[in-house]
Amino acid sequence: MAEQAVPMQSSSTPETAVPASPGAGASIDEIITAQEKIFCERQPESRRLAGRADLALAGGVTSSWQVTRPQPVWLSHGKGSKIYDVDGNEYVDLHGGYGAALAGHGHPAIVEALRGQVTLGTHFAQPTPAAILVAEELTRRFGLPLWRFANSGTEATMDAVHLMRAITGRDLIIKVEGGYHGHHDSVQVSVCPEADEVGPANKPSQVPSSTGIPQAIVDLTLVVGFNDLDGVARLLDENPGRIAGMIIEPIMMNAGIIQPEPGYLAGLKELLHSRGALLTFDEVKTGLTAGPSGATGVTGVTPDIICLAKAIGGGVSVAAIGGTEEAMGYVAAGGYEMVGTFNGNPLAMAACRAMLCEVATPAAYQRIEALRQRAVAGLQREIGRNGLAAQVVSVGAKGCVVFTAEPVRDFRGFLGIDDSYSHAHWLYQHNGGVFLPPWGKIEQWLISVQHDEADIDRLVTNFAGFAAALGSLR
Ligand SMILES: Cc1ncc(COP(=O)(O)O)c(C=O)c1O
Repeated sequence: MAEQAVPMQSSSTPETAVPASPGAGASIDEIITAQEKIFCERQPESRRLAGRADLALAGGVTSSWQVTRPQPVWLSHGKGSKIYDVDGNEYVDLHGGYGAALAGHGHPAIVEALRGQVTLGTHFAQPTPAAILVAEELTRRFGLPLWRFANSGTEATMDAVHLMRAITGRDLIIKVEGGYHGHHDSVQVSVCPEADEVGPANKPSQVPSSTGIPQAIVDLTLVVGFNDLDGVARLLDENPGRIAGMIIEPIMMNAGIIQPEPGYLAGLKELLHSRGALLTFDEVKTGLTAGPSGATGVTGVTPDIICLAKAIGGGVSVAAIGGTEEAMGYVAAGGYEMVGTFNGNPLAMAACRAMLCEVATPAAYQRIEALRQRAVAGLQREIGRNGLAAQVVSVGAKGCVVFTAEPVRDFRGFLGIDDSYSHAHWLYQHNGGVFLPPWGKIEQWLISVQHDEADIDRLVTNFAGFAAALGSLR
């Protein structure tokens, strides 16, 4: 934050009792310490549960990404656009369960769909008619003719990678440096490598992102920078006839939000196809959130395979894999067995149908767009007012404040951003009653169909307090 101007106090007083920061001139570390103290004081019951959970759950949580600093937040329930912790604190939920809660909480259409299905049976491992309706609606939105279902984003991208390899008979795949596609072996490469691990920009290292990933698998996953078309051409040249395809988030998330440059995605498709390789869009995050037809609709480029999960289930665990006649026709012909006991589970299909046909409607997207614009305008106003080196990046229901003035075009640019500002911002919002996704600069907010202007104003008001505190640094 090199370029902060003379401090200017925000004219708006936080209504949600954002606690005072250390006085003018405090460092970012002092702001974090003060906010973490307030955070813990507000949540004694969460701390008590965390202590008990430590004895029953490995690491005291149900997924390693539920560990938040300074302590995990245990929730009691959600309703509409709000969630409530076990200490009774209310939050505007912009975490959205890591981007899944586009319907908000307890949406009547989802509740009705689930209630109706529960009484009719929750699992058969045989197809039910709702699966056809869901597939037809996904075809209408994403322009791909054939679909299958799974249970998580990880399963969807795993199937997509298997399928690209099966169809082409090739073993190598390409992924983007800094891209996250779930936790199966082939994509656990260079997800969030450290600066001293990444190697040269024109030949990024293949860095295992987890323990337990065999080197032999890491070697099969080639890495390239986002927006680097030449890098893909180079990999294709260096490995003739060996690359099955590329998996990519068309609008890169899990690194703030990074937009594809004009022509990049269309260029990728052309390049890969010219070498007999396939293109998979991982739309697990962008799916219904970037717009009604995801990033595919926003960018106008349709890949060979699309992976969906998170928001399509209206809060229920489900994933979808769609593809061209060539790609999914290979499955239809029995070339690749895409299987799973819970695939197309009737409860998940009922939720999906309601999400697609009754919740994620044109009117809902209009409403979300108005709220997005309100959020962006308010946040940018405060950035400008306080002379912060920061920017707001958003697409559809997703957005984030990136604490650098420089445009970010790939993971290397993202890597250089000081994460302490994002963490301090998260704490400020949290203590002011807005639950953004944890994990600092990586994640984005999600505006649901149930948020309203007052929710967005709470986000902006909290940010105003934070921006004023930052503006007074130095
Ligand atoms: C882009 C992307 N792909 C895949 C996944 C994996 O999805 P899941 O956590 O449902 O396995 C995620 C999860 O955050 C994701 O963001």
